[in-house]
Amino acid sequence: MLPVLNERMESATAHAKELLSKLSLTEKIGQLSQFGTSIYNNKREYFPEHYPEGKIGSYLTVSGAQITNQLQRDCQEKFPTHIPLLFADDVIHGYRTTMPTPLAQSCSWNPSAAERGAEVAAKEAYVAGLRWTFSPMVDIARDPRWGRIVEGYGEDPYLCSRFAEATVRGYQGKEIGEKYHILACMKHFIGYGACIGGRDYNEVDMSPQTLYDIYLPPFQAGIDAGAATVMSAFHSMNGVPCTGSRHLLTEVLRNECGFDGFVVSDAGAVPELIPHGYAEDWKDAAQKGFQAGVNMLMAGDFYNDYLPQLVAEGKLTEQEIDEALLPILVLKILLGLFESPYTDESEEAKFFFCEEHLSVSREIAKECVVLLENNGILPLQKNQKVALIGPFADEKDHVLGTWSCRKDPEKTVSILEGFRKAGVDVTYAKGCDICEGCDAKLSEAVEIARKSDVAVLVLGEGEDMSGEAKSRTDISLPQIQLKLLDAVLETGVPVVLLISAGRPIVVEDFREKVAALAYIWQLGTSTGDAVAEVMTGRCDVSGRLSVSVPKSVGQIPVYYNYPSTGRPALGKIWYETGYIDENAHSRYPFGYGLSYTEFEYSDLRLSANEMTADGSITINCKVKNVGKRAGKTVVQLYVRDLVGSRVRPIKELKGFEKIDLDAGESRTVTFILQARELAFHNEKMEKVVEPGRFRLWVSKDSREEGISGEFEVV
Ligand code: NOJ
Repeated sequence: MLPVLNERMESATAHAKELLSKLSLTEKIGQLSQFGTSIYNNKREYFPEHYPEGKIGSYLTVSGAQITNQLQRDCQEKFPTHIPLLFADDVIHGYRTTMPTPLAQSCSWNPSAAERGAEVAAKEAYVAGLRWTFSPMVDIARDPRWGRIVEGYGEDPYLCSRFAEATVRGYQGKEIGEKYHILACMKHFIGYGACIGGRDYNEVDMSPQTLYDIYLPPFQAGIDAGAATVMSAFHSMNGVPCTGSRHLLTEVLRNECGFDGFVVSDAGAVPELIPHGYAEDWKDAAQKGFQAGVNMLMAGDFYNDYLPQLVAEGKLTEQEIDEALLPILVLKILLGLFESPYTDESEEAKFFFCEEHLSVSREIAKECVVLLENNGILPLQKNQKVALIGPFADEKDHVLGTWSCRKDPEKTVSILEGFRKAGVDVTYAKGCDICEGCDAKLSEAVEIARKSDVAVLVLGEGEDMSGEAKSRTDISLPQIQLKLLDAVLETGVPVVLLISAGRPIVVEDFREKVAALAYIWQLGTSTGDAVAEVMTGRCDVSGRLSVSVPKSVGQIPVYYNYPSTGRPALGKIWYETGYIDENAHSRYPFGYGLSYTEFEYSDLRLSANEMTADGSITINCKVKNVGKRAGKTVVQLYVRDLVGSRVRPIKELKGFEKIDLDAGESRTVTFILQARELAFHNEKMEKVVEPGRFRLWVSKDSREEGISGEFEVV
C-alpha cells in the first residue's frame, strides 16, 4: 500500500480522475512515455517538440535544478493541460555524496544505516529536481560472475528484504510527498539475478516455488513498505520475457503482492520483445508490453507511436489506457508536483557533500568492511611504518563503484589521504595499474615495502569491471596485481590485503600467505576515512558477508541456503556432495566476518518448545564480549525445517541483530520468530506452514554451529 493517509489518497484519486476526463487520448499516452537518454546512442533526447501535444510525461537521467526547472517551465508553457513532468534518475547509492555500493551496504547488516543513506541520496536528488529514483535493486544474486551483483543486497531473501524496506522508507519518507523525499523503484521484476551462467540479460528457468520463496520476498517487503514504483526486467522467465508477462506484472505483482503504484519498463525492454522472438514488430511489442502491465515506457516513442493505433483498431480500449495512467497521475499529485513543479535552485550548494551527508557516508562505509583473515596484525599499531601499495590505494574514482550517479571524484577521500589524516606513518607506491604495469613501478613498491613494518595492499576491480553488462568468467584479481602481490610477499614483510571490488573475488592463491585479508568493496566518497578508521582500530571491523565467497568459479553457484540433498555436504555421511577436486563448501560463508574482539553466545532460551501455525516463539540468547576491546557482532538466527513435503533449505536466516558491546559486557538478544516466517510454497504452490520439527541456531555466520535448539510447529 502506498504510504499515504486515506483522505489524501481519496482526494488525489478524485483529482486524477477529473484530469483523466479532460485529457485527449494523445495526452494520456504521452503521460505514459518517458524520455531522456536514447537507448540507441546514449545521447540526450529532450523532445521539446512533444510539449504542445502533451506527448511526454517523464524524463530519465536529466537532473540538476536548473535544467529540470527549464524543461518543466518550457513544458508547462507549451502543454495546454499543464501536467507537470516527473524527473527520474539512477540514484543508486547516493546522488553527489556517494555511499558504498548496495552490495557493500548489505555487508553492514545494518538496514537503518542504509535507510539513512537513502534519505541523504533522496535529499540531494530532490534539490536537483528529481522526484523518482530507479532504486533499490532487490534482485537476489547467487552468482558472482553476474556483474550486477554489486547493485543488490546479496544472496539471502531475508537480509535483502530488510534492506529493501529500509531503502524504500529512506527514499520515500513516511508519506509520499514529504519534502526532500522521492519515489523509490524496486527492480528488476523478477528473477534477474538468476540469469543463466551469470550472463547479463539472459534467460531464467526456475521453479515457481523458488521464484516465490527466494526471489519474491524482497519485492513483497518493499511493497509492504510502500514502494511506489517497480521496474520490469529485461530477461525471460520460464520462456516469457518479464516485460511482456501479464502473469508476472499483473497477476503476481498487482493481484497477489498487492502492488498499487505503477510499473516502468526497463530501458528498451519493450522493443526488446522483438529480438526475444516474443513480438512481431514494434506495434506488437507495444501492445504486449502494455497489456502485460507496463504503465510507463522508459526511453522511447513506442507508446506514442503505436498505442493510438491499437486503440483505433480496437485492440486496446481507452479504459485500459486510463487504468494504466491513473496511478501515475495519482503519484504526481501526491508528490505535490501540481502545486510546486519547480525546485529551489539555491539548495544544491547547501546540501551536496555537506558535512552531515559526508558523515552519513562515513558511518555506513565503516560498517561495510568485512575482515576474513587476521593473524593479529590488525588493527595496525601506532608507530608502525606502513607501506601503502596498489592501484586503489590513492584512488578516488573507481572506489566510488558503478552507477555513481553524479559523482565528483575530487571529493573522494582516498585511502592514502585517510591514512595521513589518521596520523599513520605511511609511504605510498602504486605498484601497477588495474590491469597493466611495468617493472619500475613494481620495484618501487617492493622497495617501500622492505623499509616498512607492514605493507597494506589495496587490490581489486575497477568500477567498470562490475555493474550492468559487466559479467566476468574469471573473478580473480588481474594478473598484474597478482604479480605485485607476489613481489611484495617475497619481501617477507607482513601483508594486509584489502580488496576493493563489486563482487566476491576468488582468493585461494594467496589467502594463506597474507597476514590479513578484508573486502572493502567500493565504499564511496568517504572510502579513505572509513578504511583508516577500521584499519587503525578506532572502530571495530563489523561487516559480515551478504554473499558466499566461492573457492573457484567452478563452484558457482554456491550459496548457504541450498536445499538438502540425500548425501549432505555438511553431514558426516560417507560421501560428500561436491566435485572430485573440490568439496561443496564456499571459502567464506554467508554471514561470515571477523571482529577485533571475541564474542561468546550462550544461554539459548525458547519461550516454548512448540507453536501453532499462526503463533510465535521468543528466542533469547546471551552474548558476551569476551575480548579486551569494545566491538560489534551480528547475532544471526537460522532455522531448518527438518522434514517437509518439499525438500527444505539446510538453513535459512530468520533474524539478525548487530550489537555493540564494551569489553566484558554482555547482553541478552531477543528474536521473535513468527510461525508465518516458516512458510514456503508446497508442490501445489500453496503457501503453507507445515507442522513438524525445526532446528534453530543462533550463530556468528551461516556455517558456524553456534548454539542451537529445537521446536515444533503443531
Ligand atoms: C537499464 C538498467 O537495467 C536499469 O537498472 C536502469 O535503471 C535503467 N537502465 C535506466 O538507466
